[in-house]
Amino acid sequence: MKPTFDLVLKGGEIVNQDGRGLRDLAIRDGKIAGIGSFSPDQAEETIDARGLTILPGVIDTQVHFREPGLTHKEDLESGSRSAVMGGVTAVFEMPNTNPLTTSEETLRAKVAAGHHRMHCDFAFFVGGTAENADRVGELERLPGAAGIKVFIGSSTGNLLVEDDANLARILKNISRRASFHCEDEPRLRERMHLRVPGDPSSHPVWRDPVAALMATERLIAIARKYGKRVHVLHISTGEEIGFLAKHKDVASAEATPHHLTLVAPDCYQRLGTYAQMNPPVRDASHQAIIWEGVRQGVIDILGSDHAPHTHEEKHHAYPASHSGMTGVQTLVPTMLDHVSKGKLTLERFVDLTSHGPARLFNIAAKGRIAEGFDADLTIVDLKRRETITNAWTASRAGWTPYDGVEVTGWPVGTFVRGRRVMWEGELVTPSQGEVVRFGETLGG
Ligand code: DOR
Repeated sequence: MKPTFDLVLKGGEIVNQDGRGLRDLAIRDGKIAGIGSFSPDQAEETIDARGLTILPGVIDTQVHFREPGLTHKEDLESGSRSAVMGGVTAVFEMPNTNPLTTSEETLRAKVAAGHHRMHCDFAFFVGGTAENADRVGELERLPGAAGIKVFIGSSTGNLLVEDDANLARILKNISRRASFHCEDEPRLRERMHLRVPGDPSSHPVWRDPVAALMATERLIAIARKYGKRVHVLHISTGEEIGFLAKHKDVASAEATPHHLTLVAPDCYQRLGTYAQMNPPVRDASHQAIIWEGVRQGVIDILGSDHAPHTHEEKHHAYPASHSGMTGVQTLVPTMLDHVSKGKLTLERFVDLTSHGPARLFNIAAKGRIAEGFDADLTIVDLKRRETITNAWTASRAGWTPYDGVEVTGWPVGTFVRGRRVMWEGELVTPSQGEVVRFGETLGG
């Protein structure tokens, strides 16, 4: 008799919407087919998962994979390899490539370039600009679109919408949740003289907490006026946590592992320009409040803001050095280390990296271990002690700000729609990445 299931993972600890427990997981045709107790003869293949913990696949909703145009830093293949090596099963990629992803044509080209070449599933943000503001309502609904992303403050690349009038035009025309980089551009311009040549610790002085809060306040006022849902990326200040706690009906918020792990001035002393990113890593007082935002639920999700640059680009003297750090591969191990130290529970980690992204972005059939959902799994060993190294990093950039850092908790397996893509640090199945589907655009 033909076995009922393609695969059974036996004896692992499943962390799920109904808690944690030892259960078997059955997979058929790339989907979860059952959670319970199954015998090996019910399956074509059985994997012994005893001692391991099985999480719903980690969805990283903020990565920069640099293709097209900046592929000396990264491309869709290398970035997604880095993702699955770190236990990430789906990514949303950002539009500040060259050309910018601001049209149907550039979005379709990215989707075609990623299909069955990326190792994880994927969607792409479309950049909102003054030029395409009247068309964002169509662009956000194209297949493979994660929604609209707007830079209110300038960062890498030249995507920028700094004024309220154009922000309002974009918000008026969207119906999905859009994502925003919030730093007030006029204030950044005024304060440029505060950058100290050669000293990246002046980066958070220049791009100060007021600049972040001002842009976030402007955004929420416009979102409220038009009744739109907005997502504030990479929260870096305590002030924004307090403010956003009053606006949870319209606003969701992301924290990055960098802002929760690195701290000024130590990170600039140790890492120099390798710690330089936008918005900047700030001092311990901000970090403590961002952690409080994680505990209180003001923070909805984690995103890595994986933003690779080459050693050479990082070695330019500040402020010519490029802003951004790699992070897609280290999201799981750095955050599991925080779990091991009691900074957050494993259930909250799953809420931040699987349930949260699915809820905010209305992702179809991902983000839960539940019958009928895609069999996307992040399998971890919570007890394993490992040292993160540059050599382990699959990113083309070849470095991580956590080189030499020992962590407790490690990703040992990545399954994407039932396929074992990574196991014990090896890429085992050739790339089969496909577009993530969304509730709002299922027919598209
Ligand atoms: O530091 C950053 N780098 N922040 C961003 O918002 C963009 C990113 C990049 O693309 O390099």
